[in-house]
Amino acid sequence: MEVRVLRTNAEIGKTAAKIICDYVNENPSCVLGLATGATPLPTYGCMIDEYKAGRVSFKEVRTFNLDEYCGLPREHKNSYYTFMAENLFSKADFDMKNVGFLDGNADAEEESRRYADAIKAAGGIDIQILGIGRNGHIAFNEPSDEFTDEAWKVKLSDSTIEANSIYFDDIPMPRYAITMGIGSIMRAKKIILIATGASKAQAVRDMINGEVTPRCPASVLQQHKDALILLDESAAALL
Ligand code: F6R
Repeated sequence: MEVRVLRTNAEIGKTAAKIICDYVNENPSCVLGLATGATPLPTYGCMIDEYKAGRVSFKEVRTFNLDEYCGLPREHKNSYYTFMAENLFSKADFDMKNVGFLDGNADAEEESRRYADAIKAAGGIDIQILGIGRNGHIAFNEPSDEFTDEAWKVKLSDSTIEANSIYFDDIPMPRYAITMGIGSIMRAKKIILIATGASKAQAVRDMINGEVTPRCPASVLQQHKDALILLDESAAALL
C-alpha cells in the first residue's frame, strides 16, 4: 500500500486523473473500474478536462462500475448508471457499448456470473478507482463476517443509508444494492482508493493501520500488490 497525503481535492483529482490518462494513452483499449459518489468527481472532472484539451481519448476504453441500487429503473435520476452518464461518460468520448454496469433489477446470481464473465472476457480490470464508506466499505461491501468474491446483492447498512439518503429527495433510498465483491476488486491490477474529509478518518485509520478483517472491508487492500491511497489531510488525521 502506498499512501500519499495531498493538500486539496483538486490536487488529488489531478494526481488520479494523470495516472489514469497516462495509462489510457499507453493502452487505449484498457479496462477501468469506476466508482460513483462524491469522492471521484474531481478525478472525473480532470479526465474530462484532459479529453477536452485533446490530450486523451476514451473511445476504446472499456469500463465496469462497482455497484448499482436494486429497485430503480436504470434511467432513474438516482441510479448509478445515470450518475456516471451525467458526470463522466457523456462529457467525454466514451462509447456506451464499452460501458459495463451491474443491473440492480436482474436475478443477482445470474447477474453476478454475467459480470464476472464480462470482466474476464475484457482481460480483467487494469485500474480500479475506489472511494471508502465511513464504515470502511468498498463498493457496497459492508462490514461483515467474511470477504465476498464475485458480485452479490447486499442489504445496505444504516451508516450507508444515512450517508447516501441526502441524494434521495422524492423517493425513499433503496435498501439493497448489487455490488462487485471483494475478490473482483482485488483482482484489479492497480487500485487507486481516494478518501477525503474528516468523516472518513476513522475508516482510513482502520484500513491502513488496523488488522485485515471483513469488519473493515477496505483493510483487505493491505494485501494488494499495487494499491495507491490518496488522502487529504482531514482523512489522514488519525494516521
Ligand atoms: C460507490 C461506492 C462507494 C463509495 C463510498 C464513498 O460506487 O462504491 O463505496 O465510494 O460510499 O462515497 P462518497 O464518495 O460519496 O463519500
